[in-house]
Amino acid sequence: MAKYEPHDRFYRKAREKGLPSRAAFKIEELLRRVKLQRGARVLDLGCAPGGWLAILGRAVGPEGRVVGVDIVACREFPPPVVSIVGDIRDVRLPARLLEALGGKADLVTSDIAPKLTGIAERDEAQADELVEAALTAARRTLRPGGAMIIKVFMAGGFKESLARFEAMFGKVEVTRVRASRPGSSELYVIARGFRG
Ligand SMILES: C[S@@+](CC[C@H](N)C(=O)[O-])C[C@H]1O[C@@H](n2cnc3c(N)ncnc32)[C@H](O)[C@@H]1O
Repeated sequence: MAKYEPHDRFYRKAREKGLPSRAAFKIEELLRRVKLQRGARVLDLGCAPGGWLAILGRAVGPEGRVVGVDIVACREFPPPVVSIVGDIRDVRLPARLLEALGGKADLVTSDIAPKLTGIAERDEAQADELVEAALTAARRTLRPGGAMIIKVFMAGGFKESLARFEAMFGKVEVTRVRASRPGSSELYVIARGFRG
């Protein structure tokens, strides 16, 4: 089994660059595959502490808009990034997100992870529920033709989730990123061409 290193090279690199989390390098890697236009609108689900927000804000530039949401408060960022506190399972949340975005999103990202209990069955059920909630939020906030990047775990309802992505998007691929911790079961789904 891979050795767990809490302060590995990505953690140290994030500290050196003043980024809020090592997760920033994951979205950097993913954005090499999903080209993000300057001026785009992006919704980031599960944004705290803000590593993805920092990178997304730079990618869209001052004429773009990045809205993050998390159940815990995120640190403040300069425009074009804003973050709000909310639970993605809340059915009233998409209306707030659309208002903060100022229109439908070109890209929805999700790095959401459940708080683990150590009980495999419960943790898998929670992870599946959050993927389902992220899909529901994306359905309400993404523009037709838009894209989604979302973390999933190779467990539980992975196959069922994948089938849902394939029904919603024209092209779906699953990838790993180098910045994931060694031995991690996390994967990222890149889905393009939202059918609307
Ligand atoms: C791995 S962290 C995200 C890291 C972030 N991408 C970054 O770059 O800093 C996962 C986040 O998902 C959030 N989360 C978990 N359940 C959530 C829910 N129901 N609604 C909103 N956020 C949630 C957690 O609070 C946590 O901050």
